[in-house]
Amino acid sequence: MLTPDLEDYILAHSDPEPETLRQVDRESNLRLVNGRMCSGHLQGRLLKMLVRLTGARRILELGTFSGYSALCLAEGMPEEGELHSIEVDDELEEFILSNWNGDPRLHLHIGDAEEIMPSWPNGYFDLIFIDADKRRYLEYYAEAKRLLSPGGLIIADNTLWSGHIADPAYDRDAQTRALRRFNDLVAADTEVEKVILPMRDGITLIWKKP
Ligand SMILES: C[S@@+](CC[C@H](N)C(=O)[O-])C[C@H]1O[C@@H](n2cnc3c(N)ncnc32)[C@H](O)[C@@H]1O
Repeated sequence: MLTPDLEDYILAHSDPEPETLRQVDRESNLRLVNGRMCSGHLQGRLLKMLVRLTGARRILELGTFSGYSALCLAEGMPEEGELHSIEVDDELEEFILSNWNGDPRLHLHIGDAEEIMPSWPNGYFDLIFIDADKRRYLEYYAEAKRLLSPGGLIIADNTLWSGHIADPAYDRDAQTRALRRFNDLVAADTEVEKVILPMRDGITLIWKKP
């Protein structure tokens, strides 16, 4: 893990966090339980960069929380792009929509990700960000592969789970066990190329071979 000094250095030498996003992060931490679930400055800049690099026009996000990461993904998207984000907690709806400030490219779906994902046809999305229930990553992955266009990118968050993934003390923890199964399945999947970035809580990039 990074020392605070090194983290400050990295942030000072990466793109700055836009003021509007800084406010969303701040408000998330003030108003919501687990405000730290917000992607935050560095991961947010990475998400935007990945959208830019892939040229993704249709994006799906599982797990909206306060809407921070959706805003970062949308920053990298072209004007005609569309982003759909699924959030199970209906109490977050008003807060998310106020943070999105009427951006017509952003579409919020309140409900369970596994129930809503079947709404779209095969190959509809260019990029899918998996960041909802950690115990359901395997199920999300199967459906995300169906929804992803050939050459598309899946980004899965929290895949190192505070390091618990490699710590036998967490062998009985349900979330750790599910994330290990997910990491094992992705590692063995020959239909994709993948790399785990040891950034923040672990981010896996999964590219679907054409
Ligand atoms: C880690 S937070 C998302 C953070 C956000 N993507 C960001 O980076 O700013 C996970 C979110 O997933 C939501 N969630 C959990 N289970 C879900 C499910 N089955 N379907 C949809 N959303 C779910 C939680 O309510 C929570 O808001």
